[in-house]
Amino acid sequence: MPRYKVTVVGAGMVGGTLAQRLAERDYADVVLIDIVEGMPQGKALDIQEAGPVYGYDSRVIGSNGYEESRGSEIVVITSGIARKPGMSRDDLLKTNAGIVRQVTEQVVAASPDSILLVVANPLDAMVTLTHQVSGFPKQRVVGMAGVLDSARYRSFLAEELGVSAEDVHGFVLGGHGDSMVPLPRYTTIAGIPLPALLSLDRIDAIVDRARNGGAEIVSLLRTGSAYYAPSASVVEMVDAILLDKKRVLPCAAYLEGEYGIDGIFMGVPCVLGAGGVERILEIQLEPAEQALLNKSADSVRELWSATEKAMQA
Ligand code: NAI
Ligand code: 2OP
Repeated sequence: MPRYKVTVVGAGMVGGTLAQRLAERDYADVVLIDIVEGMPQGKALDIQEAGPVYGYDSRVIGSNGYEESRGSEIVVITSGIARKPGMSRDDLLKTNAGIVRQVTEQVVAASPDSILLVVANPLDAMVTLTHQVSGFPKQRVVGMAGVLDSARYRSFLAEELGVSAEDVHGFVLGGHGDSMVPLPRYTTIAGIPLPALLSLDRIDAIVDRARNGGAEIVSLLRTGSAYYAPSASVVEMVDAILLDKKRVLPCAAYLEGEYGIDGIFMGVPCVLGAGGVERILEIQLEPAEQALLNKSADSVRELWSATEKAMQA
């Protein structure tokens, strides 16, 4: 049986780390594309040369074009500029919209049956743009943000409670930004509801830190944004799709009335499998939680209308 093929567009910090993590999974050949000449080829060769030591046979191919990516099952779009201190994700809008549009056109021509997994920021707008430009059905376009935001939330909780991160289950809803909506009521520690183990004050402080988790890394790194946890989060989604695992993961998915929200991509719990976003799970929300989600949806709508304007200018 031929190996799967996963293409990663953008061979920067997220794309390069992701290519490494995917090669180490040993289930797919990886094509790494960037506009910078030599860089994706160099990173790809370096990753492939680690195969004998690390024990994988994935072929890793670097390229400045799309020919090698033909027929990919999944294409991950990480191409775009990243945040520097003082920049919001939205500051990236105009530059990244141009890049994502042009990349999507080429990806679709080379891999018309692929599932598109968008990472570039501002995430909710870039995934909407990818959906629009690709013309793909909504199930085959998905954005990564919720897995990362939830991982940050879970990691801070594990540290606070002195328990294994593996035993902390929980997720966030909404857009990838300060308006994301963590849900302590649906967070459990090995099945024990979080509010039974931690005071509301401490939960609020951790929720706040998770909301600003991206900015915290940017202020420390100074030259760019996070990439280790983001690339790990993408791998969890690629696993779910390639291995048809039907994982329940928070993903940016196209909403058509779910949670009372229509016509935008936003973070919700999804069943992710070979068909892409196979189902959106609708959980019951308290009025206060729904109000936060509506507010997050408003921010995403504003972001999308700013993107549309930027694309016309
Ligand atoms: P980076 O600057 O290290 O890499 C971006 C790469 O894209 C560069 O190598 C650049 O040459 C390449 N690129 C630019 N235009 C291109 C084009 N037309 N075709 C192919 N490649 C092109 O940035 P990094 O840290 O890898 O982040 C990438 C993007 O992902 C940023 O927009 C960042 O904000 C976003 N991000 C989103 C996350 C999320 O949770 N959704 C998490 C982490 C990053
Ligand atoms: C993050 O949350 C930059 O969006 C990226 O780290």
